[in-house]
Amino acid sequence: MTEETPQEKPAASHDPKRPAKLLEFMSTGWADRSADLPAEGAAAPFRAERRRRLAEQFPGEVLVIPSGRLKVRSNDTDYPFRPGSDFAWLAGSFEPDAVLVIDADGTATLFQAPSWDRTTPAFFTDRNGELWVGPRPSLDAVTAELGITARPLEELEKLQGTAARVLQGYDEAAAAFFESSEQADKELATWLSEARLVKDEWEVAQLQEAVNATIKGFEDVARALPQAVETSERWAEGVFGLRARVEGNDVGYGSICAAGSHACTLHWTDNDGPVVPGELILLDMGVEGNELYTADVTRTLPVNGTWTPRQREVYELVYRSQEAALAECKPGNSFLDPHKAAMRVLAEGLEAMGIVESAQEVLADDDKRYSRWTLHGVSHMLGLDVHDCAHARDEVYRDGPLLPGYVLTVEPGLYFQPDDLLVPEDLRGIGVRIEDDVLITEDGYRNLSAALPRDPDAVETWMASLR
Ligand code: GLY
Ligand code: MN
Repeated sequence: MTEETPQEKPAASHDPKRPAKLLEFMSTGWADRSADLPAEGAAAPFRAERRRRLAEQFPGEVLVIPSGRLKVRSNDTDYPFRPGSDFAWLAGSFEPDAVLVIDADGTATLFQAPSWDRTTPAFFTDRNGELWVGPRPSLDAVTAELGITARPLEELEKLQGTAARVLQGYDEAAAAFFESSEQADKELATWLSEARLVKDEWEVAQLQEAVNATIKGFEDVARALPQAVETSERWAEGVFGLRARVEGNDVGYGSICAAGSHACTLHWTDNDGPVVPGELILLDMGVEGNELYTADVTRTLPVNGTWTPRQREVYELVYRSQEAALAECKPGNSFLDPHKAAMRVLAEGLEAMGIVESAQEVLADDDKRYSRWTLHGVSHMLGLDVHDCAHARDEVYRDGPLLPGYVLTVEPGLYFQPDDLLVPEDLRGIGVRIEDDVLITEDGYRNLSAALPRDPDAVETWMASLR
């Protein structure tokens, strides 16, 4: 045995050398691991059904869905690992480098690294080894919990050269084992996105949990606004991040904590600006739960708990536009109907404020000048990804009908840039967005985030109650 093991990378770090005597010593004297197996998880039957439908869609074909790989953040430090959403939807393992293979006969096998053994030194020399980052479950435990046969990752090599459809973009090394075509792979990605549009009951429960944790996070932040005033928007980001890490896996996307005119920047995530009493703060934040489903909720709050008349005027207009959009959330309506309803209300409001001359004129498909102040679409699908089902075809998603089981955001906004010469001066720098997460039901919708106040009076009452 050499002094440095083959598993060790050449010393980028400056760890102490490990003599052969130590390596040998470390391989002895450990108790046997518990052979107890976990019970099957609650999600296992749902994932089995999804895999069955997938296999049925591509009969007689081998389908390959990798979990993804660790990504370097800097030098020898990686980003926290989060498996790809399609893999999570089908397999449920949290291991990097794992690969789900569905055979031509529909049998699923999960290839992933087994638990560390102590006969080789990697378990304590490798920076991803057990004594550095904690144990990995045994393949028997994975099989029991997920209800999929788990095999050692190295056995994937046996499939070298197999014709397959591969979910691309997650693991080039694993993809290289298989013979696949761009078109066939794309069809697999599209099918997965479209299949994920309708959430099953277990997924709806996960989303509701993520929303509930998010609502607690909004309460935390509203209560902590005085400290944000003392420091910066970062205080709000940090407080929400604490809730996200305690109640879930993480935030589902970079929290947007946009005080004052930062609210006019749609994805303001620098969060390094001042929070000023008398101004507004736009908070767009979502907890990603432990099963990786994320909420996506926005509230715009008066920092000191009370609207000025002008702030309230803008807020009420956005609120009315959201109500109009929500009323269009029902099966059979098109995905764009809530958007169109909100835009009508906003354009009419802009006309009433003297900002556009004629709502009717700017609402025309070949005009849309109102969008200077509304900027974005009102909805996107929500699930394992904040912008869920990204590979669904336009005819199914954007131009398709809403169906029971869809979960989407309803999030109109109005944004008056601080240097916009086309709006009255006292509106410049005001940005308002209100966003809720909605489940389409058999006869309408259920607002999963309804417990978080959004009516302008209720917002003031709620903020006063938290102080
Ligand atoms: N929450 C950010 C977005 O929907 O783009
Ligand atoms: Mn959103």
